Amino acid sequence: HGELRGVVALDGPSGTGKSSVARRLAATLGARYLDTGAMYRAATLAVLRAGVDPADADRVVEAVRGAAVVQGTSPDRSTTHLDGEDVGAEIRGPEVTLAVSPVSAVPEVRETVVDQQRRIIAAALAEVGGIVVEGRDIGTVVAPDAPLKVYVTADAEARARRRAKQDAASGRQADLGATLADVQRRDAYDSSRAVSPLRAADDAVVLDTTDLDLPGVLAALLELVDERGLLA
Ligand code: DC
Repeated sequence: HGELRGVVALDGPSGTGKSSVARRLAATLGARYLDTGAMYRAATLAVLRAGVDPADADRVVEAVRGAAVVQGTSPDRSTTHLDGEDVGAEIRGPEVTLAVSPVSAVPEVRETVVDQQRRIIAAALAEVGGIVVEGRDIGTVVAPDAPLKVYVTADAEARARRRAKQDAASGRQADLGATLADVQRRDAYDSSRAVSPLRAADDAVVLDTTDLDLPGVLAALLELVDERGLLA
């Protein structure tokens, strides 16, 4: 396939298969991979561990600024450390999932995390020349100059089914109705927050994955990367 040159920005709500395909795309093209949601999740875990109410914005900011979040960029093994501890499993749990929306809606939290994301992206470009960055505001805020932006979407029901399957595979209880409610709650919250709401960048390609499997989504992305001339 060749190697990726530059930044591919993948945005969209949860449960579209975006994470799996972002990782796969990066691995296929010899690029790095950045899971920005994991960084908001680790920041949220820091808030919870500090005993801070996620609705208390001032103390949330303080807790996030005092936390050392280290996000790895290997597509084969994406790791997240909080204050030196591997928290990859814990940040996917229900407590963090419930609290991450209010924490990530605080403007100063976003500033802190976005600064760090830009540094990670710059380092990856210097080291290997290409990175796939996945999140909600990559094309709009974090990397507005990315040469390829894709907004990945799917029906809420399809996304809830995928999320429930993932939860079951990781040994967590999976109730489809509760999962759908959670998906809809987070969509509404993430799309309506004042700072960096979830929306497609004006120059993003919209990719609906409702009727596509992982190889189908990967093929569509590889074609876009090739069309944009991002392969070396
Ligand atoms: O992709 P995820 O489900 O792990 O993301 C967790 C939360 O973090 C999600 O509810 C919204 C937030 N998030 C964000 O605000 N901006 C990003 N770039 C990535 C995630």
